[in-house]
Amino acid sequence: MTMEQVKAAEAKLLLATYERNPILFTGGEGVHLKDEDGNLYLDLLSGIGVNALGYAHPAIERAIAEQSRKLIHVSNLFYHPGQAELALRLTEISGMDRAFFSNSGTEAWEAAMKVARAYSGLLREEGKTIGTKFLAISNSFHGRTFGSVSTTYKAKYREPFGPTVPGVDFVRFNDVEDLRAKFSSDVCAILLEPIQGEGGIRPVSQEFFAAARELTQSTGALLVADEIQSGLGRTGKWFAYRHYGIQPDITTVAKPLAGGLPLGAMLCTEEVARAIHPGMHGTTFGGGPLACAVAIAVIDEIKSTRLLDHVTAVGTYFKDGLLALQAEHPSIVEVRGEGLMLAAQLDSAELAKSVLAALLSRRILINRTDETVLRFLPPFILEREHVDATLRAIDEILAGLEAESAGQLQEAVLQGGR
Ligand SMILES: Cc1ncc(COP(=O)(O)O)c(C=O)c1O
Repeated sequence: MTMEQVKAAEAKLLLATYERNPILFTGGEGVHLKDEDGNLYLDLLSGIGVNALGYAHPAIERAIAEQSRKLIHVSNLFYHPGQAELALRLTEISGMDRAFFSNSGTEAWEAAMKVARAYSGLLREEGKTIGTKFLAISNSFHGRTFGSVSTTYKAKYREPFGPTVPGVDFVRFNDVEDLRAKFSSDVCAILLEPIQGEGGIRPVSQEFFAAARELTQSTGALLVADEIQSGLGRTGKWFAYRHYGIQPDITTVAKPLAGGLPLGAMLCTEEVARAIHPGMHGTTFGGGPLACAVAIAVIDEIKSTRLLDHVTAVGTYFKDGLLALQAEHPSIVEVRGEGLMLAAQLDSAELAKSVLAALLSRRILINRTDETVLRFLPPFILEREHVDATLRAIDEILAGLEAESAGQLQEAVLQGGR
């Protein structure tokens, strides 16, 4: 099928959930995607933070080939070696004790919410005073299923599907006073992304994170960190909460976990895990042998090639480059992020749209989030030369757009004077 045929067929056959860019990708290698005509695109989005090892990585290909010959699915009614081996790695890098495997980020988040509610129930049984309320954060994004969407801030994601899950209140981002005012023994958990992803690559402040930890500890409520976008090395540490020296009670991971295959995990402490017994929660596909084998290969590859050090080094180089661009272009309002989870916020949504389109025409892929934010989530294997090419392109595009709008302004002034 050609691009036009695929587009026409999708328009007729699929639920209209996506506004796709008109490119038909058929392959990829390293940090590049390839379209139907063989054109290469420098990919700084990596399937929204998924393809951490880029495309056609030999470690992933090998794991898929070997495991698919052995066993792809067996259900959670039986044992296979993958979940224990993967849980061993995930608990070691996260400082957690136990894992539950899902198929996606949103399911990992549902598990986190359900476990937090169940744990509060256990505490009540044990005679503690604790409620069932969740405190989420403004501008948060936790996924599209009902629990996740109920804790996701923006009305456009929630309102068409109301009523959503009750018992959720939102605290203003990084507003410690608001957090303290809304926290009480009614709260069973504070839910936050250490670095908000869809919300525009916004790190929570040390003060806010620490206050959330202190408040939850004071009542037995849980601190739940969503690391679905920031986790597994994207920020240069295995988990973004490691930058803060704060250990949550529950965390969730997904996107890069299985090298592009669907897999998520909810990780928690031994204390919290007391709340769950066989039959309370589960999944048919989650934690299948194939996805687990690939996730083990991904983690081992990141470790053996010291890729986190590379993420930190290239990420710092990239961020410094963006900051240098900000000094040249006042339309860049702010540069944010850690490692290879970076953003440049522009002064208007229109400008951000134009920059995105111009980058696409130069075959560089990024995306726009929170209207004005250019978001960079490249594969961890990105090199400085790719950063240089991207920065050069943004510099030229912004200069061109600035000249254009200066010209339009001059024209308007001249016309006004006529
Ligand atoms: C922080 C965060 N949580 C949850 C999700 C939902 O993950 P998924 O799309 O795999 O369900 C996302 C996806 O973008 C995310 O960024």
